[in-house]
Parts: sequence; C-alpha cells; structure tokens
Amino acid sequence: MGSKSTDIVWHDASVSKEERQEKNKHQSFVLWFTGLSGSGKSTLANAVSRKLFERGSHTYVLDGDNVRHGLNKDLGFSPEDRTENIRRIGEVAKLFVDSGQIVSTAFISPYREDRHQVRELLSDGEFIEVYVEASLEACEERDPKGLYKKARSGEIPSFTGINAPYEEPENPELTVNTEQKSIEESAQEVVDVLVNWNYIE
Ligand code: PPS
Repeated sequence: MGSKSTDIVWHDASVSKEERQEKNKHQSFVLWFTGLSGSGKSTLANAVSRKLFERGSHTYVLDGDNVRHGLNKDLGFSPEDRTENIRRIGEVAKLFVDSGQIVSTAFISPYREDRHQVRELLSDGEFIEVYVEASLEACEERDPKGLYKKARSGEIPSFTGINAPYEEPENPELTVNTEQKSIEESAQEVVDVLVNWNYIE
C-alpha cells in the first residue's frame, strides 16, 4: 500500500443530504442486519428493501457475499479481515445515507465493537441495528450453502458459530426471530416499525 496523503481537503456537496431527503420524502439511514450465517439476513434485507421500493422509497441492499466478490475481494475471514470488511461497508453505507437512500446491509458482522464503530460513523438515528435471531441449531439445520457441513468436517477453519465467535447485539433497535416468524411477517414488522418511528411515511 502507498503512503497516506495529507494533501486532501473535504469538498462540500452542491446538493445536501437534507435536500435529497426532502425530495425523496423519507429519511435516509442504515438498516444493519446482523446474525449468523443462514439466519436469513440477506433474504430479510431484500424483502424489506422490496417493500420499501414498492412504497416509493429509494433503497439499496449491500450484501456479504456480493461485496466480498468485488470491493472486499482481498479480505478473508480472520478477525482483522472481518473488522476491515465491516469498516469499509460502514463507509460505503454512509455514502448511501449521504445520497438520501435507505441502505440495508446484510453482513454477519460478528464483533460488537465493529458494529459500534459503524454506528459512531453515522449521525444519531441513522444506524438501526436489526438482530436477525435464529439459533445455531436452526441455522445449521437450514445450511443453505452447505457451509456448516464443511465447517464441521474441518474444511472451513474459522466458521462463525462453529469455531469463530458471534457476539449477539446487546441493545439492538430491533430483533426479528426467523424461527418464530416467516420472512414476510418479519419484513412487514420492520416496515411497520419504520412508519411508527416516522422514518418513512
Ligand atoms: S463477516 O464476518 O461479517 O465479515 O462476514 P460476511 O462479509 O457477512 O460474509 C459472510 C458470508 O461468507 C460466507 N463464508 C463465511 N461466513 C462465516 N465464516 C466463514 N469462515 C465463512 N467463509 C465463507 C458465508 O456464505 C456467509 O454468508 P451468509 O449470508 O452469512 O450465510
């Protein structure tokens, strides 16, 4: 990596975040879905995004598998790489918020401190942590990509929940349990809460 430049200045945008929000008729913020592999993060984030889109909101989904094919393809699953993964996603999510969008992110984001750092990056109320709760047993039973099976047989050395940690959120804004409710019900619950909290009309 090259050395850091000190010759950079921050440019004010010609169109402000507030102007964009006014035009879009909704707040811009991050819905940060966190949970074990197989908990339903991506499916839920996409279901919520679809519902918001159909209501006329400006939305986008940043998803673990997809971002790791591009922006973060140089990163693996060591603790340091996971932290850097989440740091970069946080920065990207902030840009989306500046652009007036509702961005849903679907990353395991196993470390509390990493999630806290993203919260710190954003302004008050712009980071909504959604814990996608499902027991390890349920996720392992679902095993949509066959990764738990591989992890159990030793093919994946540090798999979250098996031989790498997942730190549950302590005070998430929202918890949805995908063992107790369907994706459709959970997505509707998220949208209803956003309406109640005046994030969207
Ligand atoms: S992290 O921990 O937040 O940096 O992970 P994330 O970027 O969300 O990527 C998780 C997806 O990568 C696949 N995968 C693994 N997950 C956990 N641990 C290990 N070792 C691993 N190796 C590959 C897996 O498909 C995850 O996707 P989801 O959608 O969570 O199942």
